[in-house]
Amino acid sequence: MAGSSEEAPDYGRGIVIMDNWPGYDLNLFTYPQHYYGDLEYVLIPHGIIVDRIERLAKDIMKDIGYCDIMVLCVLKGGYKFCADLVEHLKNISRNSDRFVSMKVDFIRLKSYRNVLIVEDVVGTGRTMKALLSSIEKYKPNMVKVASLLVKRTPRSDGFRPDYAGFEIPNLFVVGYALDYNEYFRDLNHICVINEHGKEKYRV
Ligand code: IMP
Ligand code: MG
Repeated sequence: MAGSSEEAPDYGRGIVIMDNWPGYDLNLFTYPQHYYGDLEYVLIPHGIIVDRIERLAKDIMKDIGYCDIMVLCVLKGGYKFCADLVEHLKNISRNSDRFVSMKVDFIRLKSYRNVLIVEDVVGTGRTMKALLSSIEKYKPNMVKVASLLVKRTPRSDGFRPDYAGFEIPNLFVVGYALDYNEYFRDLNHICVINEHGKEKYRV
């Protein structure tokens, strides 16, 4: 706004969840009975995750919808995000006059051309940087990164994805395919695990 001292929102950060955000009471939602007692609160309900992904799909289509896309899903945590993102991308493509072909692969490197990497969460950014450098060897035309979550952590190496769903506090989160020792992938909402849950599923 002209003359306003307020900073313009940075949509590149996605939905920003502040450190003092208390989350939602678990009793306001349904979730698997086997996780009763193991969670602290709901950080991001499933419906909001899916609604945000719908908009990310629109942004991605606007930017790179002119070419055929290879969607590269980073397993295992990225599979829910990838499945919902591809579903929305397909819907947009089907309802437009410009059909975009899309192939999906799961981190197996071949000669890729236009790559969209789909990741669950960027923490320090080290995982993504290593992946990008191994993909660069294949000389793709274009590489973009979409991450559902980006953590505000002092350990960040500064890596920022091209598309971010949510920026979250420096918390360990589970659900929507994100796991703690392989548990909680079957939880729809993104939640914060409690001490009891950590102890129960510790390896
Ligand atoms: P980075 O290398 O620190 O960016 O870590 C990224 C990887 O660590 C992600 O691909 C996840 O597999 C895992 N990870 C980081 N934070 C979380 C979390 O809060 N919940 C579940 N997995 C996480
Ligand atoms: Mg991951």
